[in-house]
Formats: sequence, structure tokens, C-alpha cells
Amino acid sequence: MITIARIDGDGIGKEVTEAGVKILNSLDLNIDFVEAEAGRACFDKNGTTIPEETIKIAKKSKATLFGAITSTPGEKSPIITLRQELDVYGNLRPVKSFKGVNCLFDDLDFLIVRENTEGLYSKEESGNDEETVAKRIITKKASERICELAFKQAIKRNESITEEIKDNIKKDNLEKPLVTCVHKANVLKTTDGLFKKTFYDVATNYPQINTNDYFVDATAMYLLTKPQEFDVIVTTNLFGDILSDESAGLVGGLGLAPSGNIGDKHGLFEPVHGSAPDIAGQNISNPIAMTLSIAMMLDYLNEDYWANKIRIATENILKEGKIRTPDLGGTNTTTEVADAIIKEIERLN
Ligand code: NAI
Ligand code: MG
Repeated sequence: MITIARIDGDGIGKEVTEAGVKILNSLDLNIDFVEAEAGRACFDKNGTTIPEETIKIAKKSKATLFGAITSTPGEKSPIITLRQELDVYGNLRPVKSFKGVNCLFDDLDFLIVRENTEGLYSKEESGNDEETVAKRIITKKASERICELAFKQAIKRNESITEEIKDNIKKDNLEKPLVTCVHKANVLKTTDGLFKKTFYDVATNYPQINTNDYFVDATAMYLLTKPQEFDVIVTTNLFGDILSDESAGLVGGLGLAPSGNIGDKHGLFEPVHGSAPDIAGQNISNPIAMTLSIAMMLDYLNEDYWANKIRIATENILKEGKIRTPDLGGTNTTTEVADAIIKEIERLN
């Protein structure tokens, strides 16, 4: 029995989680979902955006599935609270072009590994009307563990690539598997100096993986001029936040962007998008970002067989192009897309 904490949240968070759970329940897996509250509706009901009980449930579960919430001004963010409480220090954001979807590039497949706990988001800000300061904390410990995670992900990605992809890598003269460290160590000499040094120290444990490093500003350009070169990017919190949104824009937008937050003890999986109040309640939100987040959760739980089935079925549905939600130019509902994925998984089996 796999215990999963299920936090639907608000708006389309509810619809996409419902769709994702329907897909999970169609698989031959023994999952026990424990529902927990968080978000705006939870605040209106309980006076808190994230009750202690929710944190307890997440901590006791094998993994947590999070839909999306509507922010409550002045109150603490449930998702940031959960990331901290579960110490899920690595934010994994895959960037992949899907056949049948209008993308800026149709040949991308890389992963951004973003440090989730410190950097400019250490929440240590101070100041007055004249001068303000935000502390950018970079520690050796957090840099080491995020770089380790990036190299391990590079190994895992390399193990699962097909012969066809290997041939393309050779043909295009790309140096993959590759982990690229993104920093600004020319200006932020102490903080990013430590991050970059730690990256190359960790790299010595992984001689089979190629490495390079770029400045963050140059990387923002390379994502537009030569994104095919990337395999795994590892970077600090703010840079990762910005580059991963830029990257989502290269390949079809928020309806398709999944993410996982990984730590040593916990995993928290969520679509990148928010609660989308503009389309909530109409059953037209795209459930694919959630579906692909679920595939990442199954990877984390070592259920690779079902993770791959979900991914292949989703890719097939997108490639076929017959059933899709309005954000991808279609007229289908959230439920119809989920049902099509379930049917395709059955066909594949
Ligand atoms: P959003 O991601 O909810 O929506 C941005 C745009 O993308 C909207 O036009 C929406 O309709 C569209 N969109 C998003 N997901 C979609 C999907 N699955 N299918 C089809 N279209 C989709 O971001 P927005 O509007 O800035 O924020 C709305 C609320 O969500 C705010 O309260 C915000 O703070 C919160 N939020 C929560 C997040 C979370 O729970 N992790 C992340 C981002 C925002
Ligand atoms: Mg962001």
C-alpha cells in the first residue's frame, strides 16, 4: 500500500487533481489517498492557509500530490511552507517539446534542477524607506546536495534514453550526458564562487558525466539560441525560478509544465500552474501538467513501469491531436482528456 497525501487546493487545483487521481486509480497500483486541506477556501473555513494536520499528513505519507491554491494576501504560502517543512530542497522542472503541440522548438528535452531552500529566497529582508536589503544565502551544504541531485538525475536520464536519441546526440556533436552549472560568479564572487566551486568538487565523483558552466545572463540567451545543448541545468533559487519559466515558454506553456520537489525523506509533486480563477469551475483546464507531475511522483516511488506508461500515453494523445483542452486549441473537457489518457494506457498494456 502506497500512502499519498492529496492536497487539491483551490480553483482548477481541484479539477486537475480529480483528473490525476482518476488516472492513478485506473492503474494496477495499491494507493491510499489521504486528503488534506490548504489554500484560500481552507483559510476562509479554518483561519489558516495550511493547518498543522495537513503538514502532519504530508510528513507521514510516501509522497504528496499538490493541485494549486489561490494566494491569500498577508498569509503564509502553503506551498512554500510545505517545501520547507518537508525539506524538499531540489525543484525538478523538466522541459520537453511534445509532438503535435505548437512549441518554439520541437526538439527540446532537458531538466532544470533548482535549489529550493536558500539563495535570494531565504526570506531575510530588512530595511527602511530609504534602503532595503535582501540576504542571499549560499551554503556549501545546500550547494552540495543540490549538485549531487543534479548529477544523479543526469545518470538516470542517460540510462533511459533511446538509441535514436543517442544517434541524434552523436550526429549533432552534443556532449551528453551533461550537467551545466548556472551562476553569476564573476560579480557575486563569494556566494556564487562557492556554488561554482562546490559544483566542480561534486563533479569529481561523477567522471562519466560531462560538465560546463555558464553565467546566468548568457544562459537566458542560450535558452533561445541553442537550447538543444542542455541536458541538466543546476542553479540557485532565483535563477532557477526565472529560467524555468522562460523554458516553459519554449515548449507549449503552463498546461503542460510539471514539477517535483525532492528531498532526502520526502517528495512533493505539483503542476507549475496556479489555480487559474479565469477558467476554474468549467472543467476545461488542461490536466496534462498534473498528469506529468504524477509520472514524476511514480518515478520517485520507483514505479517506473507506470510512470513510463503514463508519459507514453500522454505523448500519444498529444501527438494524435484529436482530444485537447482549449489552451491547446481544442474543445474538450478536463475529464475527456483524462479519460483519453486512461484509454490509451489500457491500449498500451
Ligand atoms: P495561473 O497559473 O493560475 O494562470 C495563468 C494563466 O494560465 C491563466 O490564464 C490560466 O487560465 C492559464 N492556465 C494555468 N493553468 C492552466 C491549465 N492547467 N489549463 C489551461 N490553462 C491554464 O497563474 P495566475 O493567474 O497568475 O494566478 C492565479 C492564482 O494562483 C493566484 O492566486 C496565484 O497566487 C496562485 N498561484 C498558485 C500556485 C501554486 O499553487 N503552486 C502557482 C502560481 C500561482
Ligand atoms: Mg515561478
